[in-house]
Amino acid sequence: MEFKEVVYNRRSIRAFLNEDVEEETILEILNDAIQSPSAGNVQPWRFIVIRNQDTKFLLANAALNQRFVAQAPWVVVVIAKQDESSVYYGERGRDLYCIQDTAAVTMTILLSAFDKGLGSCWVGAFDESKASEVLKLKKGERPVAIVPIGKAAKITTAKPKRKKLEEVVEIIY
Ligand SMILES: Cc1cc2nc3c(=O)[nH]c(=O)nc-3n(C[C@H](O)[C@H](O)[C@H](O)COP(=O)(O)O)c2cc1C
Repeated sequence: MEFKEVVYNRRSIRAFLNEDVEEETILEILNDAIQSPSAGNVQPWRFIVIRNQDTKFLLANAALNQRFVAQAPWVVVVIAKQDESSVYYGERGRDLYCIQDTAAVTMTILLSAFDKGLGSCWVGAFDESKASEVLKLKKGERPVAIVPIGKAAKITTAKPKRKKLEEVVEIIY
């Protein structure tokens, strides 16, 4: 797909077909994602990829019962390794860069999935301690995004309205 097509037409998908997606495709998406920029190229991320249905249900439950999370054949959880960023950048690394880096990687997952004809959604509303417990995260690891990926059951054509460019841009000449 052309860059513009991907950027303008990607939508959050919240219903998935009961059809599988090859593991190779998911690994390709993650390989695209790890090309994302990160502060100092530290790459303070880790991905936990869930296939186990019970774990998906537990995550959907941690995500305030957003059931579509458990409907997808694959669920990727993006983890920020705060300690890795803080080694290089102290508090700013731990609290800011680490989150920015993992947000960038999450965005690339969404774009790459769409480019491969798949639907996904960035799920950020979840109980962090519940999700960390389900995933047995270590100290210093923070779950940033839960991303279900699969074939879209409903193709959403309506584009959520964006603010106008002039509302959000200020040019200082
Ligand atoms: C940080 C973040 C958290 C989000 N959390 C959720 C979520 O918990 N559940 C959900 O259904 N969508 C979630 N979304 C998706 C947004 O609702 C969606 O991106 C927005 O409405 C625009 O729609 P679009 O992605 O189709 O362009 C989240 C998006 C971001 C960036």
